[in-house]
Amino acid sequence: MAAVANSLSYSPSPFTKSLKNPSKPFLSKPCVTLKPSFKNLRLTAVVSEKTTTLTPPKAFDHCFSKSDDGFLYCEGLKVQDAIDSVEKRPFYLYSKPQITRNVEAYKQALEGLDSIIGYAIKANNNLKIIEHLRKLGCGAVLVSGNELRLALKAGYDPTKCIFNGNGKLLDDLVLAVQEGVFVNVDSEFDLENIVAASRIAGKKVNVLLRINPDVDPQVHAYVATGNKNSKFGIRNEKLQWFLDEVKAHPNELNLVGAHCHLGSTITKVDIFRDAALLMVNYIDQIRAEGFELSYLNIGGGLGIDYYHAGAILPTPMDLINTVREIVVSRGLKLIIEPGRSLIANTCCLVNRVTGVKTNGTKNFIVIDGSMSELIRPSLYDAYQHIELVSPSDAEISTFDVVGPVCESADFLGKNRELPTPSKGTGLVVHDAGAYCMSMSSTYNLKMRPPEYWVEEDGSLVKIRHGETFDDHLRFFECL
Ligand SMILES: Cc1ncc(COP(=O)(O)O)c(C=O)c1O
Repeated sequence: MAAVANSLSYSPSPFTKSLKNPSKPFLSKPCVTLKPSFKNLRLTAVVSEKTTTLTPPKAFDHCFSKSDDGFLYCEGLKVQDAIDSVEKRPFYLYSKPQITRNVEAYKQALEGLDSIIGYAIKANNNLKIIEHLRKLGCGAVLVSGNELRLALKAGYDPTKCIFNGNGKLLDDLVLAVQEGVFVNVDSEFDLENIVAASRIAGKKVNVLLRINPDVDPQVHAYVATGNKNSKFGIRNEKLQWFLDEVKAHPNELNLVGAHCHLGSTITKVDIFRDAALLMVNYIDQIRAEGFELSYLNIGGGLGIDYYHAGAILPTPMDLINTVREIVVSRGLKLIIEPGRSLIANTCCLVNRVTGVKTNGTKNFIVIDGSMSELIRPSLYDAYQHIELVSPSDAEISTFDVVGPVCESADFLGKNRELPTPSKGTGLVVHDAGAYCMSMSSTYNLKMRPPEYWVEEDGSLVKIRHGETFDDHLRFFECL
């Protein structure tokens, strides 16, 4: 089950499409230069059945690596030294240079395209990290008013920001319109609120239609967003209704593009190509109605190698190369919204072993970290690689790695082969940069941990204070 969220083994469901010429399903022969028009397409699940040539395999290149001395290092810093020097554990440990390298990979991939890299702040909202990403040239993808406020505080250019969400609130929309960020239209009532926000702000707003392309992203159901039953986006059958509404509000709305976001942890770039083909078909239809669309936003979603088992996963270059021609064929600007693939692999949750126990059939390593700090394994059975930070010749056994939280769902990893650690041994949960700290809680009054990064010169710098018990009591002051 641990493999579900990032599974690479996938059995394609039947290719269920109704096309004008069913003997030539367009996905079997992408024909981007021919400007395909698929007006009678009935969209069910688009299934990618082709294999794409990926960037040639490289040795596993990671900011966290075991050195010949058997210790784990983050860039040049021994993680054990970090454990010994910080005042509170567990803690999140990032590599700032790895964040830079990840952004550079996207920038290189996008060379020659007019594009915006909108970093999805929901993946990790540490202010220092988002400031760093802004300095590297990123825009921001926002899903709440507070994320918008944080992006503004971090100095983001509002014209490189996109406000997403299926339940955006009027006040937040007003702020978005005032600041001049792009707003994605998600539903009929969302459009109504956007029009109202524009009137309140006294300003026209640049909008993109978030179309649900009904593409199966082949990921865990909880992180799939672009298929028919998802709560996100407008139904493609309603496109004409939305176009008429936009036309009816020329003083409020400026339709500049179309958006889709298929899901997260996607490990086949063909899926993005399939979606891009569908989206340019919609763009053709929208342009045919006289709208001057200039943006295709294909969302985020590229997966990462959570297993550390040598799999060859698509890179940003692979992703962009599969959609490049399609984008160019329509003279579009490309917006992408990566979160996980920019930040996940830059970080570990660093824990210490509290003790080892067995119930006779199962062995447990109990650590100080838990589902409160890192909930992905408990929430959707996600696999994150776990290892000890120091060399050990102790007997190797199979363990569940669990926290101290009073829930049986409190585990960080199941059935892991590890040397039996002694009390106090450092243990890391890898790839913890995305959807870990940002999804953390204070359940069981385990206060949120501090965050550190290793800088280019190898120094360890705190980038967020750990929360304290006094922080908790502050919510009850003067009541
Ligand atoms: C609309 C939207 N864009 C971008 C992202 C970022 O996705 P990821 O972190 O998988 O790149 C998300 C996350 O699910 C999202 O909902």
